[in-house]
Amino acid sequence: MKPKKPRLILSVFLPLVVFSISASAAKPIEVNQLRCEYSENPIGIAEKQPRLSWILTSAIENQVQTAYQVLVASSPSLLSERKADFWNSSKVESDRSIQVNYEGRELKSRDACWWKVRVWDKDGKASAWSEPASFEMGLLEAGDWKADWIKSSLEFEELDHPSPMLRKGFKLGQAIKSARLYISSLGLYVAEINGQRVGDQVLTPGWTSFQHRVQYQTFDVSSMLNIGDNAMGVVLGNGWYRAFRPNSQNVDGYGSESLDVMAQLEVLYADGTREVICTDPSWKSSTGPILGSTIYDGESYDARLEKPGWSKAGYAEHDWSGVEVVSYDKSKVVAPAAPPVKKIEEILPIEVLITPEGDTVVDMGQNMVGWIRLKVDCPAGTEIQLRHAEVLDKEGNFYTANLRKAAQTNTYICKGGGEEVFEPSFTFQGFRYVDVSGYPGEVTKEMLTGVVVHSDMEKRGSFSCKDELINQLQHNILWGQKGNFLDVPTDCPQRDERLGWTGDCQAFAPTACYNMDCAGFYTKWLKDLALDQHEDGAVPHVIPNVLGRGGAHGWQDAATIVPWVVYQYYGDVQILKEQYASMKALVEYMRKEAGDAYIWVPRERQFGDWLAFATTRSDYPGATTDKDLLASAFFYHSTDLLQRTAKILGKESDAGDYLKLMTLIKEAYAKEYLTPNGRMSSNTQTAYVIALAYGLIPEELEAVAAQRLADDVNAFGHLTTGFLGTPHLCHVLTTYGYLEEAYKLLYRKNYPSWLYPVTQGATTIWERWDGQKPDGSFQNPGMNSFNHYAYGAVGDWLYRKVAGIDLDPANPGFKAFVIKPHPGHEMNEVQASHFSPYGTISSAWKIEDGQFTLTVEIPVNTSAEVYVPASGSGLEVNGEACSSAEKVEEKGLDYSYYKLKKGSGSYTFVSQFMP
Ligand code: BGC
Repeated sequence: MKPKKPRLILSVFLPLVVFSISASAAKPIEVNQLRCEYSENPIGIAEKQPRLSWILTSAIENQVQTAYQVLVASSPSLLSERKADFWNSSKVESDRSIQVNYEGRELKSRDACWWKVRVWDKDGKASAWSEPASFEMGLLEAGDWKADWIKSSLEFEELDHPSPMLRKGFKLGQAIKSARLYISSLGLYVAEINGQRVGDQVLTPGWTSFQHRVQYQTFDVSSMLNIGDNAMGVVLGNGWYRAFRPNSQNVDGYGSESLDVMAQLEVLYADGTREVICTDPSWKSSTGPILGSTIYDGESYDARLEKPGWSKAGYAEHDWSGVEVVSYDKSKVVAPAAPPVKKIEEILPIEVLITPEGDTVVDMGQNMVGWIRLKVDCPAGTEIQLRHAEVLDKEGNFYTANLRKAAQTNTYICKGGGEEVFEPSFTFQGFRYVDVSGYPGEVTKEMLTGVVVHSDMEKRGSFSCKDELINQLQHNILWGQKGNFLDVPTDCPQRDERLGWTGDCQAFAPTACYNMDCAGFYTKWLKDLALDQHEDGAVPHVIPNVLGRGGAHGWQDAATIVPWVVYQYYGDVQILKEQYASMKALVEYMRKEAGDAYIWVPRERQFGDWLAFATTRSDYPGATTDKDLLASAFFYHSTDLLQRTAKILGKESDAGDYLKLMTLIKEAYAKEYLTPNGRMSSNTQTAYVIALAYGLIPEELEAVAAQRLADDVNAFGHLTTGFLGTPHLCHVLTTYGYLEEAYKLLYRKNYPSWLYPVTQGATTIWERWDGQKPDGSFQNPGMNSFNHYAYGAVGDWLYRKVAGIDLDPANPGFKAFVIKPHPGHEMNEVQASHFSPYGTISSAWKIEDGQFTLTVEIPVNTSAEVYVPASGSGLEVNGEACSSAEKVEEKGLDYSYYKLKKGSGSYTFVSQFMP
């Protein structure tokens, strides 16, 4: 029977498709969205051969780039083939449209570069030149810094003391062409020029391994300066540098040095001369309204102590103290590789509650990270306290026990005389509920706005289906990411922890890269990982390291896994080059520990399959996986990623060596942990999942091992995995023909499952499968975060297997990819998209009236292997019968696939499908 005509493309994608066709209709190929080092027109970069990328669009199917030409010039007017003074690449025969290394004249500090690009299409036709884009170099040498590191000369007794304010008035003599402020601090800073805040970044300079490096920021301040009198000011707060006591340890993460700043304002006059204003001994200092601030405890602000006009010219500073010059190695001051932290969005409260205990609590409706902007009109001296919590307890009272020692409290003392608006500068909170006390009137929703703060990564993915609980799960995964990508990938954003836990990071990285552009974010963090790595190659538990010795399997492997993920999702080879020594050091550490046995039995603290399913029932149907078994599995996996990396980087001898090592580990592993009949010594889901996912089971036993895994899932009726097993569970079940089991886990609503927290009203991913129990009581407050992204790792499976937008490991960065939806269980309609380095990939499918309709978008300069599920015969592509597709069967599925290769374009496939 001939299949029916395809229905209209799913409405969600209609506007997108119409737009891309009309936008490109006239031209065979167009070049847009120019990026340099993953950013749009960045300033202050450090890469001497920055990587250039562009997005191609075309209305023509199967369009590719066959050549490109890049021009780079010192001014837009020189951007022509004859005049480009930095680089004219000439026509380069290549299909490379991402991460093309700049190869022109050597770039120096402050060089401002304009660039444009054109390409040649599949028929050899040249596109028009793109619109120009720009990038600008930062300060590349320590010697570029003329400024001194300075601190206030005021003496403070307490560590958490009032924020020092530092200022300097100065004159500029002529018309200003442009100006840049380069600034860094030990502690956090907010800079002002002539009474205005500089830039829109917050919590600068961010968090790095301060023993080794601190970031500086570059701001274009051209429009903030005047001819004549000017002033500049900086306020400092503790941040991650000082009074920072993770896990309530009574030691300060980075010692108790002073809060220091180094700032250099470089002004280019219209006549080409330059003037530089620097932090130096002539600055003045004082204190003001910020009485104290720490990351965990919050900020106290007394508006009566504000110093109006303090960063403006002419401010009377006679009672201000001086400053002292301090030393911090200027070669440790580096440009950021990651996107800055900003206020990204705002949310409004949904309700003001009076709890049974009588507290006034505002419900923001979303567990969020950032802070509250408070707007009040009260008499001077009114002290308003905002406490922050994630949940209410079962009686409906404000619950803070799970914050451990983090006070998460901001205090604002009013100055009186009209409406006042307060936002903290040097802290952030993780919360849904805000307890407001000290306000003399009735608290209203209008007084509070939630300011959501995180690293400014572009949103890259979307996933939705017909099931609202699963859509809420996707929402929660995304908000888990928003809440924990604040310059460092953290475990949680609320309790006295908020650390860059490596295990959580590696578990969630693939999902994170589907949701948002994380390339720069991880690049920055991995640099700190390499710097903080122990001398013997073991990796600390958290990066930046404030907890001491690490060396835990599944955690330290972030050193190999995260670079590999960035390479796979962004086609970034540079990260492999940069991290290679770190990856190798880790593997060598484990090799040495394992010795001739090739079984690594760690001697240090291990976490194992952290927070896996456990019961107190006497027959103990829990799921504890032997830590040693996991340790050697990660030893094997890291070695595998290292040998693949060595191959990509052309390090043949290393590649061979590590391939051999893999064989030895695999043999030893089978002897130690696997019976000849395919039973693992730990008969747990995680043991099988990890061994199968990492390729540790001999081929002839894979099916048996997978069967045992599926049997265990069916026997329990639920997952039992913790942090290590969970990311791979549904993937392994799907690969080995147990799609139905994977779906049952996804759709399950009772504990333990992904949807259980959703049924309890979760708006983020919980740390534990049962953070809040069905009776409303809570898990152990010592370890019970309601915003922990690790279990959100299932998101990768939703994108790759359910929606079917999958990677082709041999063609990283989605240069070539797979579209292969996996309908099953109740899943009958899905829409997903991912903005890859080459542009938008989308997959929308539904089952209706006995037909499977799949609508796909494939970006220019890429290709996809498309698999269309079918239970009958006959396939239509864009309304026409297609006979060229190959039919493939797959184990465990009651349908087969039509397989065909497609170049760029928008396609609708229709097959017969009877579920
Ligand atoms: C963190 C985890 C982390 C773990 C190590 C916890 O305190 O919150 O997410 O991975 O310690 O076991």
